[in-house]
Amino acid sequence: MDFFQYKNGVLHAEAIPVHILAERFGTPLYIYSRATLARHLTQIQEAFAEAEPLICYSVKSNGNLALAREMARLGSGFDVTSGGEMYRAILAGAPGRKIVFAGVGKSKAELARALQAGVFLFNVESEEELHFLGGVAREVDIPAPVALRVNPDLPPKTHAKTDTSVKGVKFGLDIETVLDVARGVVGHSHLRVIGLHMHLGSPILSADPYRMGAAKGEHLVGELRKMGHPITVLNMGGGFGIHYRKQEALPASAFAAEILPVVKRLGCKLVLEPGRFIVGNAGILVSKVLYRKESGGKKFVIQDAAMNDLIRPTLYDSFHRIWPVNLPKGASAPPEDYEAEIPGTEKVDVVGPVCESGDFLAKQRALPPLAQGDLLAVFSAGAYGMAMASNYNSRPRAAEVLVDGDTARLARRRETLEDLVRPELEAMADW
Ligand code: LLP
Repeated sequence: MDFFQYKNGVLHAEAIPVHILAERFGTPLYIYSRATLARHLTQIQEAFAEAEPLICYSVKSNGNLALAREMARLGSGFDVTSGGEMYRAILAGAPGRKIVFAGVGKSKAELARALQAGVFLFNVESEEELHFLGGVAREVDIPAPVALRVNPDLPPKTHAKTDTSVKGVKFGLDIETVLDVARGVVGHSHLRVIGLHMHLGSPILSADPYRMGAAKGEHLVGELRKMGHPITVLNMGGGFGIHYRKQEALPASAFAAEILPVVKRLGCKLVLEPGRFIVGNAGILVSKVLYRKESGGKKFVIQDAAMNDLIRPTLYDSFHRIWPVNLPKGASAPPEDYEAEIPGTEKVDVVGPVCESGDFLAKQRALPPLAQGDLLAVFSAGAYGMAMASNYNSRPRAAEVLVDGDTARLARRRETLEDLVRPELEAMADW
């Protein structure tokens, strides 16, 4: 459940009518709900409570500092995948001991900085990286706490572009070789192999992959311990799915039911790296209808959010619910079932101003008839929305607002035209 609800035909973000925010801050606009963010973190904390896990909010899903600060305040740790994300986590108030660092291409500077920050874990993804990290750790004379990231080679479970635990992807160490790699660093002066990491993919709508992954993990932890690595941490990554279309996602307790027994048997500290589950439904993208047109026998609604603001539909054919912010006369709240006939609607392509045929937010979507100036809400846009936004077509990125009850505060101002050209002007200052 989230805190974006219709009251008397008017969409509210917590206690504030969304159209008021659109008037105040302009469109396109990302709006986040603090209460939703907190609720989703709590759901995971409660489901996994008996393991006292370290929950590391995945910064890549939404790195906005206001949200990250809120997460830190609520006791969350952070999963980072670059020096930039680590910088954000630290700025948000995270101590190093609550940061885990994954990614296949960590640079020397990033590794050194993370060592100095005292991160809890490096999730190491290749043999070369492992030895390189050992060298950097020796140089700065800070031992590196390591979790070996294994690719458990499971059947496909989500979109091919975001499935990270099938054979042939770039992530992790192959399950066939991980033990050999580990054997190569037994007794290393500056590598402490204390954990096993896996991130199965995202989003995942079944608990089965976690059962299969945890079982393989349990076996590997046993083998790693036998060879002398004192494994105390099992990091099961992120990936918990959310409701995009209807109530299709599992509660956190369903994942806990598969993961907790293994953690208990191993006596390990559990780390989780949820991003989407926490922030996905804590954010909406609000846009304004610019024009309508008919072309090639199809109806188009052209609104002011585009693929540069939310690329998920273009990139993954993702489904995001879209509905008017203020319900037109006779229109009902967003349908429970988009597959069924929805009375009072027409099928339209919802597109943006970017110069690509692939610039769309929805295709042949049932929507009530819309007029110029109407506001639309694109739901479930909190994760991988603004985080993947770009300046394509020299479009300034949207503003972000954080709502808390009846208070709304700007969490990122809208970019200006000057922002777009500043790095070039600076570079060319002495030309
Ligand atoms: N941990 C690791 C190592 C990851 O690679 C990811 C996501 C997460 C945690 C967080 O996953 P989550 O709990 O948010 O599902 N841009 C795509 C998703 C890419 C996910 C990348 N890794 C999308 O918009 O669906």
